[in-house]
Amino acid sequence: MRRKLIAGNWKMNGLSRDGLALAEALAGKLEEARLAGTPPSCDLLICPPFVLLPILRSTASDAEIAMGGQDCHAAESGAHTGDTSAAMLADVGCSFVLVGHSERRQDHGERSKDVAAKASTALSAGLTPVICVGETREERDAGRALDVIESQVRDSLPSAGGSGEVVLAYEPVWAIGTGLTATSADVAEVHGAIRKVLADLRGDATAQATRILYGGSVKPANAAELLGTADVDGALVGGASLKAEDFWAIATAC
Ligand code: G3P
Repeated sequence: MRRKLIAGNWKMNGLSRDGLALAEALAGKLEEARLAGTPPSCDLLICPPFVLLPILRSTASDAEIAMGGQDCHAAESGAHTGDTSAAMLADVGCSFVLVGHSERRQDHGERSKDVAAKASTALSAGLTPVICVGETREERDAGRALDVIESQVRDSLPSAGGSGEVVLAYEPVWAIGTGLTATSADVAEVHGAIRKVLADLRGDATAQATRILYGGSVKPANAAELLGTADVDGALVGGASLKAEDFWAIATAC
């Protein structure tokens, strides 16, 4: 049985006071729910900007909210000005890291093989990589969505030798920040296809144990339907993760 994971990708939003207020509000909601004997039945993860991680560390860890980075470098250390290593993320309390988000594939020219290298370094540092894949509108309209996604999954997975959990996240590029979401049928089809690729590459047991998240305009209003869709093991939430009420409503829709 896969426990659902609700992850908030804060992207490049919030100063220290905003981040702290958001993390504290979430921690407060968790505390209330625990005291009431109704804790959410999912794991919670927040992925704030790098500079906020040390500031949020104790609030997140006291509340048992996992923290993740939004990216890491493929190298362990070295002359990579402006970059952050997986070990640095682990050092400030992260247990996850997003890799291959479409905004990084688009804005920073990341290819799937770069994503695989990052995922592999993340695993070596003891982090769980959340490997993001997804098709563009043009690719879907051309009937190529499944081909694109399957090859992104094959090429973005770390080499089979690596051990440790990986999480996949399906985020159709056209659904990110647009208010559009894929239909449940399309989401089920894509998640099923991703699980098949995983089974092919890693065997059935690993495929069945791997969480596959959906991302792209997940909101309180559509969360229950998306989270109830076959093969959906959680959500990767952007905009709605910046409001404690909305993120909490999504988490409690599990
Ligand atoms: O990584 C989460 C993301 O790209 C989805 O963003 O704002 O559509 O929920 P949003």
